[in-house]
Amino acid sequence: MNVLNQLRAAFGAVTPEGGDPQGFAAAVRPANDSKFGDYQANGCMGLAKAAKKNPRDLATVVAEAVDLEPLAGKPEIAGPGFLNVRLHDEWIANQLEDLLRDGKHGLESPKQAKTVVVDFSSPNVAKPMHVGHIRSTVIGDSLARIFEALGHKVVRDNHLGDWGSQFGMILWGWKNHRDEAAYDVDPVAELARLYRLAQSKIKGGDKEVEEAARAETAKLHAGDPENRELWKRFMPFCLAALQKIYDRLGVRFDVELGESFYDPMLADVVTDLEKKGIAEESEGATVAFVQGMKAPFIIRKRDGAFNYGTTDLATIQYRAQTWDPDQMLYVVDTRQGDHFKQLFDVARRWGYTKADMEHVAFGTILGADRRPFKTRDGDVVGLESLLDEAVAEARKVVDANSGDLEPEDRARIAEIVGLGAIKYADLSQNRLSDYVFDWSKMLAMNGNTATYLQYAYARIQNIFRKGELRPESIRERAPAILLSHPAERALGVRMLRLPEVLELAASELKPNILTDYLFDLANAYSTFYEECPVLKAESAERRDSRLALCDLTAQMLKFGLALLGIDVVDRM
Ligand code: ARG
Repeated sequence: MNVLNQLRAAFGAVTPEGGDPQGFAAAVRPANDSKFGDYQANGCMGLAKAAKKNPRDLATVVAEAVDLEPLAGKPEIAGPGFLNVRLHDEWIANQLEDLLRDGKHGLESPKQAKTVVVDFSSPNVAKPMHVGHIRSTVIGDSLARIFEALGHKVVRDNHLGDWGSQFGMILWGWKNHRDEAAYDVDPVAELARLYRLAQSKIKGGDKEVEEAARAETAKLHAGDPENRELWKRFMPFCLAALQKIYDRLGVRFDVELGESFYDPMLADVVTDLEKKGIAEESEGATVAFVQGMKAPFIIRKRDGAFNYGTTDLATIQYRAQTWDPDQMLYVVDTRQGDHFKQLFDVARRWGYTKADMEHVAFGTILGADRRPFKTRDGDVVGLESLLDEAVAEARKVVDANSGDLEPEDRARIAEIVGLGAIKYADLSQNRLSDYVFDWSKMLAMNGNTATYLQYAYARIQNIFRKGELRPESIRERAPAILLSHPAERALGVRMLRLPEVLELAASELKPNILTDYLFDLANAYSTFYEECPVLKAESAERRDSRLALCDLTAQMLKFGLALLGIDVVDRM
């Protein structure tokens, strides 16, 4: 059950005259400080100001009228006109008992399940994945998991850049500089070498190579048999290299429809947009003008080539026809903001108005020098080596903390802790900001890190080991939950918040709302653990209730971390 929504509905229903029920309901929030109860309704002040009334008088009327049972009794009026809501202890306990019984973390099926297409990761193939790809991959994966957990239908689409100019560069490299022996040993490494060779020449101002690579791309698009053959030959190796990383990260897709898939549809897209008067000729190119934007949206270049934008329009058409989604999310670097603004505008005018299209933008990963993260030699950091380094760093932490574990266990734990650290460091940022990449911070045992949460989880498993109990046996025993200590109550209230947190994370498209919640939960657990003896509790009833709280916390941490694509370990 979404407690916040319940309270909002109750307050919205008694909105004072002249107020807007939605706004009044939205002013109900979780309390910042438990001194003020569990939730607060803050809408009276604004309303009173607008109506030139006394806010405390308004609050008194609302407090009298609102019915929060069975969740809570009458709200308490505080300060200039706040309404503080304190959930009934007995109701909290009952809810926790239900959680323990049904294992659904309080989530219910949505009133209306949405279909959501998540376009994420979407790297340009034919060059190795680098650090820049981690953000789209982990943020998109987490959002997909969150929407699924809320009961929506998700289509995870990896919109691979498999048709762009980088292929022309590789084709040029292959025809002029290939090393077949090297290709036979490691095709992807050889293709990457050829790509870098072409790229460095072009960057160095070599117009001839630039022109030649462009001609190769054009020939590929025009159906030149040799280039198509080479493309078909290279692709499986490129895809396998990506797949290796996705497997390691535990990221999966429902479809991987790359740019090449849409190629046959592009000409019709342009014709249709011209026919409908949305696109027109301008300086030899075909473009759509978008209000408020200086540059037009180009859909056919002067040389006749279709481009990134044309492909994205075809993609929207295809997605609409195939899945009829309610929402399409594009988890892409913030620097592509203008592209998406133009794309969405043109697509809407074209008639694709049903789906809510959103650019889920994110900032850059910075190095300690606050500039885009590079290796010591100034190269972009390859994703695979970054993951290896994370695991090596995690291994140090594991070695320092768990003397009694076998080497294989340590290796397995280090993999989980290392990948978790990288993912969490990324997901716990407000995605729009840049963030500084820092191993020691992301693997800290204390603080807002995956390591801290994984450690909290492992400590709970340890309690069960020490007590020679399995968590399942507590679930089966289904003890009464007793909230006799404030720390037990504080932990319990938090455990009921997951549904509202996930809904907020989904509506704002921000996984950091979930990480903040998990951190807060782990802190509440830590206070509980310090203040309330579990195995040595004063009575058997209290001990079982506390074991149940421990197990619920562990389940919540495990579930929440899973929604971030992060695993837990039983010991560390
Ligand atoms: N391949 C693009 C890049 O690496 C990202 C594609 C994002 N998705 C999209 N539908 N445009 O920049």
